[in-house]
Amino acid sequence: KPQQSLAGKQIVITAGPTQEAIDPVRYISNHSSGKMGYALANAALAMGAEVTLVSGPVNLSAPCSANLIKVESAQQMHAAVMAEIENADIFIGCAAVADYRPSDVQNQKIKKNNQELTLTFIKNPDILADVAKQQQSVFTVGFAAETQDVSRYAKEKLARKQLDMIAANDVSNSSIGFNSDQNALTVFWKEGEKSLEVADKRQLAFELMQLVSEHYRNKHAS
Ligand code: PMT
Repeated sequence: KPQQSLAGKQIVITAGPTQEAIDPVRYISNHSSGKMGYALANAALAMGAEVTLVSGPVNLSAPCSANLIKVESAQQMHAAVMAEIENADIFIGCAAVADYRPSDVQNQKIKKNNQELTLTFIKNPDILADVAKQQQSVFTVGFAAETQDVSRYAKEKLARKQLDMIAANDVSNSSIGFNSDQNALTVFWKEGEKSLEVADKRQLAFELMQLVSEHYRNKHAS
């Protein structure tokens, strides 16, 4: 049985993709399955935490002891997180949130009248950055999905978004990351880093939650 090192802690976790509507029957999204985020929710619960899981559309069953909030779009995920975050101790952004959404959602199905179709996009709110900015007492953990220069981009995100920790995965390797059962993470914080080698996402989730719990405790001890 894992140590109850997160007993009594409130943790908000985002998981899965978001879907951004184009018209009543179409959307754009990404390949996130939710496996990594759901594994983190399970690990946090096993370590004694109370978990709110804000999830985009996935084909997984949520742990029944989690408070599950289902959303579709990035804007809905943002609103759900902001409503839950005030009493939280730890936030983990594992969702693959769409950076952009179509600027105008068409009320009717778009017809195929033209040879070309141009969509215009507008930036979505950054949930992780807003949590870090607005709730400075919350220990904030981001993910970084990169296809190149993984550690440089991850360290940039850690500093720019003022996070406590960031877990980077190289999503150019299709055997790990999006949708697969395995992953590998390099975790960065201000003073250090740690590599978590390729493993089942359920195993990796425990290793990451262990690190989060240690650093959370260090921060609150100092
Ligand atoms: O779901 P799986 O199939 O198991 O795959 C897991 C995963 C690859 C999706 C996961 O491990 C992962 O890397 N999640 C983050 C994906 C992502 O969107 O990374 P990013 O580098 O684009 O975003 C950086 C961080 O900002 C992330 O913590 C993200 O949740 C957050 N973000 C991004 C944009 C936005 N508008 N709001 C956010 O909160």
